[in-house]
Amino acid sequence: MTAEAAVEAREPGAPKIDVRQLNAWFKLNHALRNVSLTVPDNSVLAIIGPSGCGKSTFVRCLNRMHELVPGARQSGKVLVDGQDLHARRVLWEAGAPAEIVF
Ligand SMILES: Nc1ncnc2c1ncn2[C@@H]1O[C@H](COP(=O)(O)OP(=O)(O)OP(=O)(O)O)[C@@H](O)[C@H]1O
Ligand SMILES: [Mg+2]
Repeated sequence: MTAEAAVEAREPGAPKIDVRQLNAWFKLNHALRNVSLTVPDNSVLAIIGPSGCGKSTFVRCLNRMHELVPGARQSGKVLVDGQDLHARRVLWEAGAPAEIVF
């Protein structure tokens, strides 16, 4: 399914982004621990916390930059429009429109 088709297929009221039990590591450093949240469509999410708490790591998991870091790994699921971000056919497609300033 394309990203456009997933948007059309999404149930009314279903979250735009659904993060389930997301964990992320840099080698042995467990940077994100069981993060679960949903983001409604047409909304703004602010992530606030002290330096080093994992804000940028969380965002990098959403745009698939985290997996590019040598030694980094993650577990859990991120659904965008109901589609698993890591399903092969949505590789980059869902993340491509995202522009990020860290
Ligand atoms: N490329 C990396 N390699 C190894 N460890 C990293 C890397 N990037 C982040 N970390 C570690 O992951 C944890 C979370 O860091 P992250 O950069 O996500 O925090 P942050 O909340 O964005 O901090 P800041 O407010 O300073 O931007 C920290 O322990 C940090 O040292
Ligand atoms: Mg940061």
